Amino acid sequence: MLISDMPVTAILLAAGKGERFKKGAEKVFALIHSQEAVAYSLKALNAHSAIKDIVVVGSIKNSERLAGLIKRYKINKACKIVKGGRRRQDSVCNGLKAVDDRADLVLIHDAARPFIDRGVISSVIKEAGRSGAAILAVPVKDTIKKAQSGLSVKETLDRSKLWMAQTPQVFRRELITEAYNKYRDSDVTDDASLVERMNHPVKIVEGSHLNIKITTFEDLVLAEAIIKMQTRNPKH
Ligand code: CTP
Ligand code: MG
Repeated sequence: MLISDMPVTAILLAAGKGERFKKGAEKVFALIHSQEAVAYSLKALNAHSAIKDIVVVGSIKNSERLAGLIKRYKINKACKIVKGGRRRQDSVCNGLKAVDDRADLVLIHDAARPFIDRGVISSVIKEAGRSGAAILAVPVKDTIKKAQSGLSVKETLDRSKLWMAQTPQVFRRELITEAYNKYRDSDVTDDASLVERMNHPVKIVEGSHLNIKITTFEDLVLAEAIIKMQTRNPKH
């Protein structure tokens, strides 16, 4: 089946407070090479042929500014802006309520990850089309220690089995809706965690270490370096 045969609705999350970033500055609007961080993923989602519409989740404070960017960057796919919630998962929940019933798949992406392109979006959609649930992730490079109370090592985890989850994450619409209906109260930091709780397999699609999330202020330095490299060599 071609991926364009399975309509996808994208949920783009931009309602966070960015508390680890910097006081007084909203990280989704941080400028990277003179363009707002959120604009990168908005453009990538807008340009992808499998994605039929985009639900942008914003905060009470930033929704108007998001609407302004949608206009400025000529995001011509049907775009709804809905209000987010206290936790990331509350924002996803609000986004899911606005997803069209005709969508087969729902793609969920953090606006704080600007560096996605057509290739990775297609790979995750394709895998979710086959298996129902797929996430982008990268193998862990460092040795990971699990600590017991305080700064004391309890054990070293087997790195060969560890992956760092990223977004996009893509799911069959019924599956992710059911996972959220059942388990939204448990505290999680990604969407696949809730699908795992349903004992539904989640496939990993290997992504790139350059698909960074802007979390703290120094991530902007990395982001500038990545965009410079991509401009010089578009294959990256
Ligand atoms: N997000 C959201 N609604 C929330 C929390 C997070 O839409 N209640 C979004 C953020 O805008 C971001 C993505 O989820 O694009 C990933 O979350 P994270 O990196 O944790 O961003 P923030 O929650 O904004 O940052 P922090 O945890 O430092 O406050
Ligand atoms: Mg957060």
